[in-house]
This record gives sequence, structure tokens and C-alpha cells, in this order.
Amino acid sequence: MSRKPIIAGNWKMNKTAAEAREFVDAVKNNIPSNELVDTVIGAPAIFLEGMKKGVKGTDLQVSAQNCYFEDFGAFTGENSPATIAALGVEYVIIGHSERREYFHETDEEINKKAQAIFKHGMTPILCCGESLETYEAGKTAEWIEGQITADIKGLSAEQVSHLVIAYEPIWAIGTGKSADANIADEICGVVRSTVEKLYGKEVSEAVRIQYGGSVKPENVAEYMAKENVDGALVGGASLQADSFLALLDFVK
Ligand code: PGA
Repeated sequence: MSRKPIIAGNWKMNKTAAEAREFVDAVKNNIPSNELVDTVIGAPAIFLEGMKKGVKGTDLQVSAQNCYFEDFGAFTGENSPATIAALGVEYVIIGHSERREYFHETDEEINKKAQAIFKHGMTPILCCGESLETYEAGKTAEWIEGQITADIKGLSAEQVSHLVIAYEPIWAIGTGKSADANIADEICGVVRSTVEKLYGKEVSEAVRIQYGGSVKPENVAEYMAKENVDGALVGGASLQADSFLALLDFVK
């Protein structure tokens, strides 16, 4: 089965509204057709409405970087998946290692968020990844299998086949130390076989798996050439318009 590639920028907590607008104006008419690749920007929640207006009529899609799992209520400071969906936002990144580490998000919460995102017709970009310690102990496969199993628990086969999973080794995020493409392929393969164990071959062949961690225009094609890598989740190299556009050159 051929899976459509998906390149997603993760701006993290960067840019002012004016800078976000400038970026969107610079890239929106220069991205390849969404028949070839899904192109997504993960922006801070405060920009989502403006971003959706800015990309109207183009193939550029928009992702939130987090959401809460309840629809509405007394949850000061949180963003509702219902509110995000009503803006027309297509994706929500969940389970990023920075949220797991600094904001103490658990697999149980991430699982509830995945359910809520699907309920509102959006697609989760679910992140998983191991620490340097786990990597050096040779326990990566076991760790990834545990995270994925807990994070997608209770989702239907139909939902999982539409899911995007990002494998991001924590030691490669923002460090410039990207994982070797063969390692990325191997661990993305572990993600796929975990999905196969839980949901069967058809679902595991449909689920799209990204590699993330110091992906840049110079190395993206190497990852994209790998059988189990269907895309990339990109932080630093997604912040400048020219670098973001260069990440998409592999489709040409
Ligand atoms: P990086 O970040 O590309 O800057 O390493 C990736 C991510 O955290 O998604």
C-alpha cells in the first residue's frame, strides 16, 4: 500500500502573530499539491484562527500542538478540542516529549486526548520516543511498544488507520544529532509492528509514521526513502519559510 507522505512543522513556542502571518504568506502558494504530500504547520493555539484564514484556498494544513480532552468546562488555561475543530484545524500534536517531560503528561491523558481529537473529526499526530538512557540500554523497541500500546488503547481500527504517529528519539530533538536513517526506519518499523499486533496488517499498513529529531532540508530525503518512514515532524528547520519549503523538495 502506498501511503501519502506527511511533512509537519512544529513551531513549538515561537513566533509573534506578525511573524506567523509573514511565514504563511511566504509559503502558502509554494507548497506541492496535497495529492503528493500533506503539508502541515503546528502552530501555537493563539495563532490557529489567523492561520486557518491565511491558508484558505491553499493546500497548507494547520495543526494545534496540544489540546485538553474535555469539550468544555472549568479548566482554566486549556484549549478545547471542540473549539480547535470548529476553526477547521485538521491535526493536533499530542504526546510530544516536551509535554511529557515539562508538563508531566501521562499515557492515560494522551490516550484521552487522542479519543477527543478523533471525536471532533481531527487527526492526532501522536509522538513517541525514548530517552538517551533507554536508547543506550538497548531498550528502545520495548519502550516504544509500551508507549504506543497505552496511547492508542480503545481507538477503533478505522481511527488508527487514519492516525499519524511520530517517532522522535528525545536525544535527537533540537540537538542537531539526528538518528541514522536506518535506525529511524527500524524504530518506525517497531511502531508499525506494534500497530499490527493490536489491529492487524491492513491497519498497520495504512497508519502513517513520521520520524522527528533534527530533520532538515539536507537529510529529509534520506529518511523519506526508507520503507517505514512516511513523513517528518520538524522543529527548528520549520521556522524559516525557505527552510520549510526546502523540506518539501523530496517530492519533486
Ligand atoms: P527538531 O524538533 O526538528 O528541532 O529536532 C523536532 C520536534 O521536537 O518535533
